[in-house]
Amino acid sequence: MDLKVLAVSFSSEDRNGRWSYFRFTTTRIFFLTDKKHKSFFGATVSQQGGKMRQYSSVFKDESRLDINYVPPSLPHRTFQLDLLNQFFRSLIESPGKMAQRVLITGRIGTGKTVLSQRFGLRITRDAREKGINLQYVHTNCRECKGSLFLILQRVISKFHPHFPKRGYSAEEILQMLIQILDDQDLYLILTLDELDALIRNGGSEPLYNLTRIQEDRPDAPRRLSLICILREIEHADSLDPSTRSTLQHNTIHLAEYSRSQLLDILSDRVSLAFRVGVVSRDILSLIAGLASFEGGDARYGIELLWRAGKYADVSRLVEVSAECVRRAAASVYPTVHKDVVSALQVHEKLFLLGVARRFKQTGAVQMSMGEAEESYAIVCEEYEKRRLGHTQVWKYVKDLSAVGIIESRLSGVGQRGKTTMISLSKVPASDLERELVKVLSVGGK
Ligand SMILES: Nc1ncnc2c1ncn2[C@@H]1O[C@H](COP(=O)(O)OP(=O)(O)OP(=O)(O)O)[C@@H](O)[C@H]1O
Ligand SMILES: [Mg+2]
Repeated sequence: MDLKVLAVSFSSEDRNGRWSYFRFTTTRIFFLTDKKHKSFFGATVSQQGGKMRQYSSVFKDESRLDINYVPPSLPHRTFQLDLLNQFFRSLIESPGKMAQRVLITGRIGTGKTVLSQRFGLRITRDAREKGINLQYVHTNCRECKGSLFLILQRVISKFHPHFPKRGYSAEEILQMLIQILDDQDLYLILTLDELDALIRNGGSEPLYNLTRIQEDRPDAPRRLSLICILREIEHADSLDPSTRSTLQHNTIHLAEYSRSQLLDILSDRVSLAFRVGVVSRDILSLIAGLASFEGGDARYGIELLWRAGKYADVSRLVEVSAECVRRAAASVYPTVHKDVVSALQVHEKLFLLGVARRFKQTGAVQMSMGEAEESYAIVCEEYEKRRLGHTQVWKYVKDLSAVGIIESRLSGVGQRGKTTMISLSKVPASDLERELVKVLSVGGK
């Protein structure tokens, strides 16, 4: 085995693009075992009586806690999985007769992505068994910068790995995709995850094009079905009424997980990822409680579990302790992702930077829209950008609230007139400022 011994002093680490802070005061020696997933160590060693004693990690397979892992079963989502199956039954029973469109909604960490991915694995397996050529492709609209062109390019590259990156419009790629499906007698379920990014960027047109392409060829087999994923149905408000009603026709809403549901989900993960007996029921209950407090966010619970395990390993404990969980909780900001910040538009970043700086300076809990706009104007001057008008900035406030970076609400009685009040609870203002300055200097300017 090719091992390198590294001296590491922790200041910050990052997994899945989240801010994370490890406040270790000591420097330890580790074997770096997993560069790909940036796991920062695999085993610690200590010198005892001249012999090296190896510490065994509390994990048996930490990849089962990875954000992209799709577990074999989804506790408390069986009904929704069956419902999806019902909606898409006709694709297996009479392929080509009709295309399906389903909308999945639910707050952060309620299992929207994993549910559709689990369903994708299931339906492709069922189709294969029946000799039907059906593929499931999962795309994330935010990662594709809300561009139908980039989404379709990713899809078509699954069938055509060397498809040219330039030279075609979204409409042309869509035509070619349908042609490929026809040529290969293939049926496609395309998932558009984080659809709000596509709507924000392109309005109704992209969805309209995706649905119209089949209506334009009434006698041909229906080959393209869609699963759309949104956190809030309100994010579809800007769609034209007919596109919205088509989309909402088959909706599956995922409610936030309760504490006991989170307990079941986490317990499943523990048996997949940890060695037997290292995570007690009490510890699980503690983590489930924290995740439930964060709005039933299973992702946060799983992240806490992983981090708590890491702290146990760092302290070379034989089991995960409550203190490990507390340290994990102090180091994870539940809902704000770094990649969300870097994908924002320039003026959203500038506005957010103004907000972060003002909160840092004033220490206030909330600020008015007027105050936020003043700070934004100062930042615009600094970055030599022309500030945008109130209506546009107000739209940004709505969008930033939609992705969960800030919270905004109308001021209550007692305030003179009604104004939008902005607050920041997911991430410290100074961390947000640091991150924004970084991304603005990289390419956002
Ligand atoms: N019922 C479940 N059983 C097992 N794991 C689950 C379940 N629900 C969610 N998870 C896990 O919780 C994490 C978050 O789930 P997922 O990413 O699907 O949430 P989401 O609703 O798509 O959130 P977001 O709105 O932030 O995209 C993932 O690691 C997922 O595997
Ligand atoms: Mg998701």
